Amino acid sequence: MKPRVFVTRRIPEAGLSRIRAACDADIWTERLPPPYETIRERIKDCEGLVSLLTDRIDGPLLDAAPRLKVVSNFAVGFNNVDVPACTARGVCVGNTPGALTDATADCAFMLLIAAARRLAEGILDVRGGRWLTWEPVGYLGLDLAGKTLGVVGMGRIGYALAQRCRGGWGMNVLYHDVQPSPKAESDLGARRVELDELLRQSDFISMHAALTPENRHLIGDAQFRLMKKTAVFVNTARGPLVDQAALYRALTSGTIFAAGLDVTDPEPPDPKDPLLQLPNVVIAPHLASATVSTRDGMAEICADNLIAGVTGQPLRAWVNPEVAAKRR
Ligand code: 8YV
Repeated sequence: MKPRVFVTRRIPEAGLSRIRAACDADIWTERLPPPYETIRERIKDCEGLVSLLTDRIDGPLLDAAPRLKVVSNFAVGFNNVDVPACTARGVCVGNTPGALTDATADCAFMLLIAAARRLAEGILDVRGGRWLTWEPVGYLGLDLAGKTLGVVGMGRIGYALAQRCRGGWGMNVLYHDVQPSPKAESDLGARRVELDELLRQSDFISMHAALTPENRHLIGDAQFRLMKKTAVFVNTARGPLVDQAALYRALTSGTIFAAGLDVTDPEPPDPKDPLLQLPNVVIAPHLASATVSTRDGMAEICADNLIAGVTGQPLRAWVNPEVAAKRR
């Protein structure tokens, strides 16, 4: 008999076909995520679970699934999964690193240049009939060449953005990370600095840290005040890294120049949130990894992790390999 698994959303066929071939798959096909209670109910007899960033996977949920062997998260980020709770119960956790590095770095750069060149404001004016004429001092934005990029979290995606900015625009690279990145230092001349120094010296600041309980609201009023008045702030990582009310204050008080966000807190934001009305912010609907081949690549890794988890093999991308000795 094939192992029973629950898949909380229709992921690309590249992954689903592998899952269907190896497992008895129950797939949630609605557009909106299944409620927590529904997941709890549906995984009662399951050995595997494919989750998304919108699904909270915690101890009480796991306790309802005594046969569960693996949580395969369709994302590189796994802040929605209580990993220690999984490890304690012998449940493997997988994620999808690598597949989305370029697509996400591209998106960070898209937001960076769009915010620097006031694209959101320009588009709104064109559509709204407010673009009256070509003006010598209209829509003046910021140059990128030779400026300083500050990368908060020099992992795969931070590195890929820095590589673009260094190679294409000759930018200087500063980074803040708990770990040094010898590769970024040797390849890109990047310099590791304290967060405060990065915020003070950078012209463009881009968030690439994993969200943990410790770094929630890492960037708030005090941090925005350290930034240059001409700073452009970009977040493609996770919304709660930033105190969004503080970001609003920074954007409306002239504390910083502009922001580009692919992630917000919450997602989606309340359509009435005044942040959405600001001309100097460009907000995308968490689409950084949304290219055809990237999502296919994520789906393949996700499926492989799931299948490895239910068949007792090592996971292709294993968040908690320390569970190996006591996995279910
Ligand atoms: C996904 C992401 O779209 O991988 C991540 O961490 O944020 C995005 O690529 C999303 O997480 C899907 O669950």
